[in-house]
Amino acid sequence: MRFERITLTGGPRKGSGQSSPARFTRPPAFDYQDGELHCDRVRLSELAAKYGTPLYVYSASAIRERYRVLDRAFDSVAHTICYSVKANSNLSILRFLSRLGAGFDIVSGGELERVRLARKRALEKTVFSGVGKTEDELLLAVRRGIVLFNVESEGEMELLAACATRLHKYVNVALRVNPDIAVKTHPHISTGLAEHKFGVPIRDASFLCRQASRHEYLDVAGVSVHIGSQITDVAPFRLATERVAELAAQLAGEGHNIRFADIGGGLGISYSSQELLDFPEHVKAYAEAVLGPWQAVKEPRPLLLLEPGRAIIAPAGVLVTRVLYVKANGERRFTVVDAAMNDLIRPVLYGARHEVAPVSLDRPAWESSRSDVVGPVCETGDFLARDADLPGVLAGDYLCVLDAGAYGMSLASNYNTRPRAAEVLVDGRRVRLVRRRESLHDMLRPETSRL
Ligand code: LLP
Repeated sequence: MRFERITLTGGPRKGSGQSSPARFTRPPAFDYQDGELHCDRVRLSELAAKYGTPLYVYSASAIRERYRVLDRAFDSVAHTICYSVKANSNLSILRFLSRLGAGFDIVSGGELERVRLARKRALEKTVFSGVGKTEDELLLAVRRGIVLFNVESEGEMELLAACATRLHKYVNVALRVNPDIAVKTHPHISTGLAEHKFGVPIRDASFLCRQASRHEYLDVAGVSVHIGSQITDVAPFRLATERVAELAAQLAGEGHNIRFADIGGGLGISYSSQELLDFPEHVKAYAEAVLGPWQAVKEPRPLLLLEPGRAIIAPAGVLVTRVLYVKANGERRFTVVDAAMNDLIRPVLYGARHEVAPVSLDRPAWESSRSDVVGPVCETGDFLARDADLPGVLAGDYLCVLDAGAYGMSLASNYNTRPRAAEVLVDGRRVRLVRRRESLHDMLRPETSRL
């Protein structure tokens, strides 16, 4: 069977004078111009040739745009967007977001240091989440002076009290509660059910806050919740906000000075260009779901904190990779590329379906070929896409894995002793290398062969 690339991509053949194929693009950041996929005003093929592959490429304009859409949607109430550092923790991206006004949600001492290095002032807008904070991490965060600790157990509360007392520093605590809300997402990233390790049962909140308020250096200042990640239906966010609003009012009634209500992150995106969500519309629906119950809370309302990660950064980043070989094992065709599961583990870990797009559309009509896009790692689970429509791709071509800005580089590893990718941030025509490619020396330095 023959088919024309134009019918697959909706795009042009070389010299047709058209541009912007509907499929495979995430305008305005990633779009074809004259048959070449660009990030903002820069050709991805140019970046790949200059910086090598695998290469993460982020669009500053997409990050800015998405941050602003989210921020503005909550304009009617006092709020802070605390970007979830785990989604993508590159120092330059953190600095960029901080300059836009973002605060941060961190889950480790390492992320705390990232925020401090990116912009010291940002610590004033940083909240510390996580079920297993160590004593060293708590001491570090108390010393650095972050705005809020989202505490997840009685034991953590006691340890935090001891750390604050030792350092003679007052700290704000919010109790993270488990709202027992089911969400439709991958089970590994659903966090708000009673059976999950996160938070404390709502019925224990009152008692724990009373306990906490006995400690001189703890100020019970808030309530927090996080129900999971990659949630595209907004209804569970309404439910979670209702529970938080109710609890905040109850704790205030019990004499606590509740100044923060953190509703966590989790807003999902569409990874499929067949059903792309209009971001402003989706955010509007999300904001309505949250603000409905929130605006029913009596004034003065606490500061509303939101912890989005993916919704801001996922579509703002791609992973560019080079085709090493094209092969067929019987019926099955494989496009072997130089990026692998160590660079992007989401496909095998969560069954995530990232679309793969050609970087150049400069071929005439090609033979049809569906293939699995696989990496060099020695596991069958090492695939970036299955059954991708990539007709005519040849060794040496560049491909681009879409929506890879979140949980791509931040989950990358050195498995198979592969150095981690480089990262560049593009803003209009401006290109900055924000992480150089890891060298073999970087990788091996912490180890010794002396016995
Ligand atoms: N706040 C807390 C307390 C969280 O645990 C998370 C994510 C977020 C905020 C941000 O969630 P987001 O807005 O990005 O959905 N590695 C997985 C996602 C893990 C999410 C963990 N927690 C993936 O690649 O899908």
